[in-house]
Formats: sequence, C-alpha cells, structure tokens
Amino acid sequence: MTSLSPSRADAGPTDPAAPLLAVRDLTVEYKTDAGMVAAVERLSFDVGERQTLAIVGESGSGKSAAAMALMGLLPRTARVTGSIRFRGEELLGRSERQLREVRGRRIGIIFQDALAALNPMMTIGAQIAEAVSVHDPSLGPKELAARAADLLGLVGIPSPETRLHEYPHEFSGGMRQRVMIAIGMANEPDILIADEPTTALDVTVQAQILEVVRHVQERTGTSILLITHDLGVVAGVADRVMVMYGGRNLETGGVEAVFYQPSHPYTRALLDALPRIDRRVPRLAQIPGNPSPPGRRPPGCPFQSRCPHARPALCGAESASPLQVADLHTTSCVRVREIESELR
Ligand SMILES: Nc1ncnc2c1ncn2[C@@H]1O[C@H](COP(=O)(O)OP(=O)(O)OP(=O)(O)O)[C@@H](O)[C@H]1O
Ligand SMILES: [Mg+2]
Repeated sequence: MTSLSPSRADAGPTDPAAPLLAVRDLTVEYKTDAGMVAAVERLSFDVGERQTLAIVGESGSGKSAAAMALMGLLPRTARVTGSIRFRGEELLGRSERQLREVRGRRIGIIFQDALAALNPMMTIGAQIAEAVSVHDPSLGPKELAARAADLLGLVGIPSPETRLHEYPHEFSGGMRQRVMIAIGMANEPDILIADEPTTALDVTVQAQILEVVRHVQERTGTSILLITHDLGVVAGVADRVMVMYGGRNLETGGVEAVFYQPSHPYTRALLDALPRIDRRVPRLAQIPGNPSPPGRRPPGCPFQSRCPHARPALCGAESASPLQVADLHTTSCVRVREIESELR
C-alpha cells in the first residue's frame, strides 16, 4: 500500500544541498477583459544539478507562462508571485538589469521557432559569436570564431569551421534547431530552458534533436528544463518529469516511476493516449472533454470535470500540498489511494 505524507519541506537559502532551481508557489496571472486570470497556480518544483526535468502538459496548461516567469520575460501586465530561487538566491522581484545578468550567463534559453529566432541576414557564426561576446566582451574575433565552431561541433554539426560562414537559409530545420541549442549553450549556462524545441520538426529529426540535448547534457553537465506537450519524447532524455494541467503541478517523479506507476488519473490518461507498438490498433490522444481556460477553472483539481474517478466533494476542495506517494514522487490527487485499490 502506498504511504501518504505531505511532501518534503522547502530547503532554505543557506542549505548547501539546496537544488539548483527551487520554485515555490509560483503563480502567474494575466490581465484580461475579465480581470486577472491565473495561467499558472501555486506551482512548486525543483531542478537539481546535472538533472533534466521535463515539464509535460496539453496546450494551455501554463508551461510557457511558467518558463517565461523563470526567465523574467513575461509582459509587464502579468503578475507573478511566489518564489524562484536560483542557487538559493531569489530571482523574483529583481530589476531588469539584474535579471539580464542571470539570463544568458546562468540560464540559457532555446525558443521553439528557430527560423524566427535567427537573423536571416547574419551568418550562423556571427550569431553564435554575438551570443558569446555579450557575456564575454574581452574575446577577440579569432577566439570568438573558435568558440562558435566548438559549439557547432558540440551540437553535432559536421564541418563546423566551414558552416560558420553560412546563413540560416542554408541550414535545414533540424540544423537550425541545433544552432539554437548552440546559442543557448554559448555561455555554458548552469541550466538550459528549452520550450518545445522539437515541435516544429518531423519525428526523425525530433529524435536527433533530443539526442543532441542528451549529448550536451552529458558533455557539459548543464541542468535542463525541457518543456513538451508530448510525453513520448520524455523517456530516454529526462531524469524527472512534472505533469502540468490547468496551471498546476499534478504529478512529479522520476521518469520510470511516473511511466510505470502513474499516480494521477490525468497522467494515466496521457499515457493511455500514447501510441504503442505492442498495441495492434494504436489508440490516439483522446481524453474526453476539454481543459477549462484560466479564469473558468473550478476550485480543487483542475482535471475533475474530465476525470473518470472524480468525487465532487473531495476533488472540489483545495488541497494544501501535494501528497508523497513514494520517495521523490508526489501527486496532487486526493483520491490516489482509493483509485489504486479500485484499479487493482
Ligand atoms: N499574454 C497573455 N494574456 C492572457 N492570457 C494568456 C497570455 N499568454 C498566455 N495566456 C493564457 O495562459 C494559459 C497558459 O498559456 P501557456 O502559453 O503558458 O500554455 P502552454 O502550456 O505553453 O501551451 P502550448 O503547449 O500551447 O505552448 C493559456 O490559457 C493562454 O491562453
Ligand atoms: Mg507553450
């Protein structure tokens, strides 16, 4: 039987064992015609040193809003509360100038749309060199070119010295995404945040890009926060996974634990929707119903209206903190124990 207890207490700022990134009760609200609505609600999670955490969730679950909050890139109209600690230092409430120092040097970013993010008029080498020189202005042109070639080599681009002189249109979509990873790694950040780095690419190229992410992680030891709507891309790349829905963290755990012992009905539904080779007829993503938009979510579990196990009296109440189902594996489902016995 699963033992349930409140999840571990927050590690203090002076704790030497504090995770690289500790997010607590992060709430992101946007100003809309209907007033302030929460795209992210009381989100808490950690990313450890040399760890890859995947954030998985359907469109609209608040993954990008959370990532933008971490990077301090939300529009001014958004309101952010809670705590984002990086190596024990609070990032929320810092000035733009102070944040710029952290972004890029300590937090690398890879955006989804490589074509839009690259300048068509500049060579690939010049764009990587620019990213390097922003944080290390002392480097001369030769050193910058050498560093750019190293970075292109790191992300698996053949003949990097030659390709430095080419323009974005001379690169395929997958190669451009590799360049984005190289730019994200330009200053050897402590953590790389990749928001849907593979969505625009076809399946074979997606697999190659994830392989590059894994290689970069192994070679450099950077931590990675990988955001995706596809649970299928998580296995083999991430150490831990956080399942988001309706702006909340529904389940967090090691990849194997979440895949083989999912504790939230939403995670189970996502896993059931994955095409599998051991099924003759692949069942494709069909979770009945639609997610409620921010501002129209019921109190309690955001998945209750679509959940086959929901009990309004239990699931409609706000739960104080997630429940620990195993070591380093938490769930927000208040019915986890009953559902386990129902499914047995
Ligand atoms: N500037 C904004 N103003 C108001 N609402 C917004 C704004 N940006 C995002 N939202 C809303 O916040 C919610 C979360 O959006 P977000 O982009 O974080 O989702 P996501 O999980 O990244 O989805 P996707 O997989 O489609 O990228 C959505 O309902 C979205 O409509
Ligand atoms: Mg997004």
